[in-house]
Amino acid sequence: MRHFVDELADRGTLSKENFSLLLSGSDAETDAHLFARARTVATSVFGNEIYLRGLIEFSNFCRLNCLYCGLRSDNRGVERYRLAKDEILGCCAEGRRLGFRTFVLQSGEDAGIQTETLAGIVRAIREGFPDCAITLSAGEMAPEDFRALFEAGADRYLLRHETISPEHFRRLHPPGVEVASRVASLRVLKEIGFQTGSGIMVGSPFQTVANIVDDLFFLADLRPEMIGIGPFLPCRGTPFESMAPGSLDLTLRLIAVLRLMRPDALIPATTALASLHPEGRERGILAGANVVMPNLSPMNVRAKYRLYDGKAFAGLEAAEMRDELERRLAGIGYAMAAGRGDHRDIPDPRSAGAGTAD
Ligand code: 5AD
Ligand code: SF4
Repeated sequence: MRHFVDELADRGTLSKENFSLLLSGSDAETDAHLFARARTVATSVFGNEIYLRGLIEFSNFCRLNCLYCGLRSDNRGVERYRLAKDEILGCCAEGRRLGFRTFVLQSGEDAGIQTETLAGIVRAIREGFPDCAITLSAGEMAPEDFRALFEAGADRYLLRHETISPEHFRRLHPPGVEVASRVASLRVLKEIGFQTGSGIMVGSPFQTVANIVDDLFFLADLRPEMIGIGPFLPCRGTPFESMAPGSLDLTLRLIAVLRLMRPDALIPATTALASLHPEGRERGILAGANVVMPNLSPMNVRAKYRLYDGKAFAGLEAAEMRDELERRLAGIGYAMAAGRGDHRDIPDPRSAGAGTAD
């Protein structure tokens, strides 16, 4: 298996068959080699610095009904909330004071927020915190809405495709929601000029290794600036509440594989990974991740933004979280970066075509 890792590091891609073998058949020794190579690539691009993002969960209303997610519209057990503009600006002020230079505004697909309202919030953050980047993660919208938000000053947009297989996607979402539309939105976001993020859940129900390999080729083709990879975690009150969580090892392998495919991509050690395993964040970084995204949401809404059960650090204040993260990063030889942490294009000397199979 070791030679697959070296081939991947050298060429930036593998055949579909070899990707499958590596993802499903890797052993502890191969994993150690894979993570070490991915880590070396990450530190050659980012040094030992980890980018910091403050997550502000500004609304948990959602019109969609994704089968895996605790915020799905059918989940009557959720107390819905929407933060006012001033509350959001308050979170940013606290975050700015604590050293955050990126705010990630995340919500469900909230039909009760007009694009103009969200654009107004973006403009206010842009004016109030001119040295900070603004990332949005609020689901799919019409192209003109994405454009209005970009023009208001948003820099980045996160929209996971979840799975590129139309059949698999349909088993995770109710009728009428299609992956093709998500892909179209991702292409629009890139065209507009957003630093764009996509990604998948690892171990979502019915997912096969072949699905994941297709996701790798999709991501190689799309070339998003950010790639979010986290394990599926079951959530009470959803149709998938009794399903098994995704695997830690496979999630780490995927982080490392994507780092070798895309040296300059911004790859977070996700909260889901930290929720799956007490050292998930550190393990993610040691497998090649370079971003952490602690929660800046007001304490009184934290518990209500429940995508899945057992969300890590839900009880920590932003300041405590920041200090705790800094300690943990130092413990594995990393430090927090001071700046906005934008994506930078690093020319990839490997000419081989990532994105073409076999
Ligand atoms: N487990 C893990 N991740 C989840 N998400 C939603 N529900 C879950 C879950 N049960 C992820 C989705 C979505 C992101 C905001 O959170 O991938 O894109
Ligand atoms: Fe809504 Fe996002 Fe949850 Fe789907 S994953 S139900 S779009 S909040």
